Amino acid sequence: MSKKMHVKLNVNGEDHEFLAEPRELLIYALREKLNITGPHVGCETSHCGACTVTMNGKSVKSCTVFVAQANGSEVTTVEGLGNPDALHVLQENFKEHHGLQCGFCTPGMITRAAKLLEENPNPTEEEVRFGIAGNLCRCTGYQNIVKSILSAASEMNAAKEAAQ
Ligand code: FES
Ligand code: FES
Repeated sequence: MSKKMHVKLNVNGEDHEFLAEPRELLIYALREKLNITGPHVGCETSHCGACTVTMNGKSVKSCTVFVAQANGSEVTTVEGLGNPDALHVLQENFKEHHGLQCGFCTPGMITRAAKLLEENPNPTEEEVRFGIAGNLCRCTGYQNIVKSILSAASEMNAAKEAAQ
């Protein structure tokens, strides 16, 4: 067993410190050490994106990051975007437009979509499809996911305009 290292992570605004082997993957630290089980594992080849979180301002697949690399980082997962009493506008729209079925891809999909709309607040359908190309879904056929994201974007833009 390799020597454990002391890891500090800020997840969804909360500081965490724990010991981890350097080879441990961020997804397992989140799920098994911190009990943040929204991000999922759907593959072993970095394709599916079910494990997507935001790390230091970028969408990353947390199955492809060692916890050692994440030391000192700020991480946001779907749990940090909203909660059942106050859903994030994307969560609301996924619900409204049936952007999920089994829900397994959804935490990664919504976390990616939140970052995508920060990067590009007014995307075209094509840009949304390309922007979530790193996130696979076996249930929806994507159509309603795209609808949900486009609808969330227009609501967010309308709210921004109203606030100006
Ligand atoms: S678990 Fe599939 S990309 Fe991370
Ligand atoms: S809703 Fe089932 S994998 Fe996307």
